[in-house]
Amino acid sequence: MKLIAPSILSADFSILGEEIRAVEKAGADWIHIDVMDGHFVPNITIGPLVVDAVRKVTDLTLDVHLMIENPGKYIQAFVDAGADLITVQVETCVHLNRVIQMIHQAGIKAGAVLNPSTPLSSIEWEIDNLDLVMLMGVNPGFGGQTFIPATLDKVRALRSVIQEKGLETLIEMDGGVSKKTIKEISNSGVDVLVSGSAIFGTDDYAETIESFRKLIA
Ligand code: DX5
Ligand code: ZN
Repeated sequence: MKLIAPSILSADFSILGEEIRAVEKAGADWIHIDVMDGHFVPNITIGPLVVDAVRKVTDLTLDVHLMIENPGKYIQAFVDAGADLITVQVETCVHLNRVIQMIHQAGIKAGAVLNPSTPLSSIEWEIDNLDLVMLMGVNPGFGGQTFIPATLDKVRALRSVIQEKGLETLIEMDGGVSKKTIKEISNSGVDVLVSGSAIFGTDDYAETIESFRKLIA
């Protein structure tokens, strides 16, 4: 089953609670939360305080994407705030295995994220411990960027690794997922589709999510 995870990066933060209730009502499966520190990525966004506020308005899975340096330092704070899944960028983790263990020991699911140019070999010795692998379809930092097509071959390669090893690891795609690209992305073997601007940039979230579901059915 394919899951749709609206990224609140493109929501109206002046009415964030309403925006989250609206996408939940519109059929969202997960809520994707982009945490940026102004160091690993140029932009600065959300901290544990906002995740805590989001937790109060929805029971949906909170998928917290850490685009921050030294993510291990903040795992417990995001778990306490109500994250159900934390993904960390492999480029920020000298000790990826340790950080993944920390997330699991805190009692939630753990995933690794790979930038467009980061090879799959970066998780070769860690994939057995991962609940999810997220591939960036754009360079992280901003919503509304164009999908990088080479990522589709990367999904296919990752899918074969997961199949060969007989794992249940989910594949998530983040960045550039829109009405135009979602079908091809989904068909390449993605389980969880993150979409920010292509959902929050429309007037009718239910209609948009419904059209996504038809395209990936
Ligand atoms: C990018 C973020 C994404 C972003 C996706 O750095 O990690 O989650 O919100 O935005 P769209 O769907 O607009 O490409
Ligand atoms: Zn993200």
